[in-house]
Amino acid sequence: MTTYIEDQRESYIQTIRINRADKKNALTPEMYLAIAEALRSAQSDKKVRVTVLTGSGDSFTAGNDIGDFVTTSNAPKGEKSITQGQAPFPAFLAALMAADKPVIAAVNGLAIGVGTTMLMHCDLVYASDTARFSLPFVNLGAVPEAGSSVLIPNMVGRMRAMELFLLGDQFKAPQAKQMGFVNEIFPADQLMHEVMAIAARLAAKPPSAVRETKRLVRENGALLEKAIREEGRTFDAQLRTPESKEAMKAFAERRAADFSRFD
Ligand code: COA
Repeated sequence: MTTYIEDQRESYIQTIRINRADKKNALTPEMYLAIAEALRSAQSDKKVRVTVLTGSGDSFTAGNDIGDFVTTSNAPKGEKSITQGQAPFPAFLAALMAADKPVIAAVNGLAIGVGTTMLMHCDLVYASDTARFSLPFVNLGAVPEAGSSVLIPNMVGRMRAMELFLLGDQFKAPQAKQMGFVNEIFPADQLMHEVMAIAARLAAKPPSAVRETKRLVRENGALLEKAIREEGRTFDAQLRTPESKEAMKAFAERRAADFSRFD
């Protein structure tokens, strides 16, 4: 069991906190599994009516741990992978998508990669005014994941989605709110206070009406699952390309990646 994921339950509110601040809360396989387990166990816990997902330090999460991308891309094809089968990332995503109780994201800072795509599977998203978002998959030689290749174009339109995916630039909280990633922005020092007040309001509402509303509003499951499978296959294949290996090596060596030799 990893100590990087905290799971606190009080007054019908579960707070899952990603607690690996020195690595900007980058997510390892153990952390994905711990979040998945926390979410799953909350579904049958009558003392939980709403989940708050947040980070520690100055980050929500800087996305998948890049060191684990390297391990995955070096594994023989078909072996342990973060994006296939019952591996940690799919387990995390499945648990988040299956949660029948509302999940509120409190984006307290950097939300990179899955830090942004997971927001599409949360029910309410609040960000601090210091939050920064980005979808840098292409920069890493990879492709969008977590259903984001479908969900984000649906939300922001195709051209804007292409800008976010292809350029991979960071964007700030006001832009995220304007595009629909975020419900509301709060000053950093008030974010958790505001989010916990909203969570308390939700927890006081009729629980089955809340759950049924969530079920009715959910995206078309079959279409989304097909997209997630195709993304997962492509993502894994891309991680094994020399382009992606150059991107990961460049990150480790703290230099700009050089893709000039690739076709
Ligand atoms: N995986 C593993 N380690 C990560 C990480 C990640 N995704 N993101 C940050 N870290 C680590 C850094 O390696 C560094 O570790 P060190 O202190 O041992 O060298 C530490 O977290 C602090 O990061 P640093 O880069 O020094 O902070 P910064 O404020 O200059 O930049 C980021 C923060 C998030 C913009 C930058 O670290 C980054 O771009 N990370 C990669 C994000 C990413 O591409 N995620 C994958 C998405 S699919």
